[in-house]
Amino acid sequence: MYSNNTDTQFETAQTQGLSPLDWQVMDNDEQVAQSAYETILDIAQRSIEQRGLFSLVLAGGTTPERVYALLADSDKVSDWDKWQLYIGDERCLPPENPERNSQMVHRILLDKVPIDSQNVHFISAEKGPVEGARGYVKYVKEALPFDLVLLGMGEDGHTASLFPGHEHNDAELVHAVFDAPKPPPQRVSLSVRALSSNRRLLILVTGAGKRSAMKQWLAGKSLPVSRIGTLGKGQVLLDRAACPDEYDVVIK
Ligand code: 6PG
Repeated sequence: MYSNNTDTQFETAQTQGLSPLDWQVMDNDEQVAQSAYETILDIAQRSIEQRGLFSLVLAGGTTPERVYALLADSDKVSDWDKWQLYIGDERCLPPENPERNSQMVHRILLDKVPIDSQNVHFISAEKGPVEGARGYVKYVKEALPFDLVLLGMGEDGHTASLFPGHEHNDAELVHAVFDAPKPPPQRVSLSVRALSSNRRLLILVTGAGKRSAMKQWLAGKSLPVSRIGTLGKGQVLLDRAACPDEYDVVIK
């Protein structure tokens, strides 16, 4: 199912109807958060052992908030200096705007743990989509492949700020996004290419609002989220509310 060959795996993820991911259905969103938290700790430990650092792309939206709270309260992380944090997308709003993904991550996690600001590489989206995207490319280029990419999924199957029907140049690592259907319309997003350059991929999907997109994804429809692949291992953690009934028995 998985391959260490970068090119093969990347092609597979994009050309298969179903992404080569493990699907795990859990009873509720708390279990999804706990499992994601434990996976992050495990990958952090292994990455630091193997390479001396842990590069993590954080997800925006509300789904990962509980995961970040668990990390903030954790007594199991003693090496924050080895963590290098990135973000999958950012909303083009003033730096202090609470609606920014970076503000949510600061409020719930970063303001509560001893991590140096030099280890936090977020997007200067206040400069607008084009400048914000341009400025982030060098950070992404230096970091690839990421040790772990964490993503959520929107009700229309978008992920990060990659929206259905939006055309982007697939060669880019970071896209300027205009006219996003989820406010605000202007955003900056890592591309499919950048998000797929990861050793581990973790996608969190919770709540009944995600059921219809899950159904399309599982039926093999091409959605932004279904285009994201992995060089190593990928998992989708979903709660029962998000899992279409007919797939409940198929996915263990
Ligand atoms: C954002 C995102 C976006 C988000 C999904 C899921 O800026 O909104 O990064 O891709 O992850 O829309 O959002 P929820 O977790 O709030 O459902």
